[in-house]
Amino acid sequence: MSAQQQQSRKTTTAIRQAKGPGKVVALTAYTAPMARQLDPHVDMLLVGDSLGMVVYGLPSTLAVTLDMMIAHGAAVVRGSSQACVVVDLPFGSYQASPAQAFEAAARVLAETGAQAVKLEGGAEMADTVRFLTQRGVPVVSHIGLMPQQVNTVGGYKAQGMQADGSDRILHDAQALEAAGAFALVVECTAEAVGRRVTQALQIPVIGIGASPACDGQILVTEDVLGMSGARVPKFVKQYAQLGAEIEQAAARYAQEVRAGTFPAPEHCFGVKAG
Ligand code: KIV
Repeated sequence: MSAQQQQSRKTTTAIRQAKGPGKVVALTAYTAPMARQLDPHVDMLLVGDSLGMVVYGLPSTLAVTLDMMIAHGAAVVRGSSQACVVVDLPFGSYQASPAQAFEAAARVLAETGAQAVKLEGGAEMADTVRFLTQRGVPVVSHIGLMPQQVNTVGGYKAQGMQADGSDRILHDAQALEAAGAFALVVECTAEAVGRRVTQALQIPVIGIGASPACDGQILVTEDVLGMSGARVPKFVKQYAQLGAEIEQAAARYAQEVRAGTFPAPEHCFGVKAG
């Protein structure tokens, strides 16, 4: 990536100032071609560790490695030119200590060209967020439903449905903002919690199943495009049904190959069509 390309991207400081409903439009991307198509339309591309399920067919995000995130992060940076690219730190690459988190984050920034990392965790991760931001690593924090904690939480459940849960999420959000996170992802919470957190913070809150009051929204692109199979979370709106279209195209191709109608003369070299 050229220095000029890097300069024309939306910066983390621009994202930090994007406060107000609808100010941050974000989608996930894992590959260069998808990044190329989404890039003109979004402020932020997240290389989420959801790629474990979406791309690799894993049962959860837990087996995703730092090398996988770096390979996909670099592809998304190559495929985009204006969006701020953020790469997830995967499970096990940052929770042990701030120093471990810095090593992982430094590799991500140096080897992908992305501008920031995202990591899961509330107030217990505030020291790590402070350590990173004070050393030149911009951080997006992620609270509410945290998929990397699926085994301790016991599933993928909406968070903050009771008053004490709502208070805890607000406390986490404030601790992470004070530690220097430039944006906060809040996933799958009661609507009132997303609204409360958004009103309480100066940094933008990017919701995924949180609240329309959030400063931004993010979804997994394959969910939005109808490529994730039959079950998608309640908070997803599908804007296309590409999964069904791909299946129909594959069926037509198979039928034509078996019938001998593809390839036709116009697909062959040295044969005049018509
Ligand atoms: O991994 C991911 O895709 C995410 C988004 C769902 C926010 O963290």
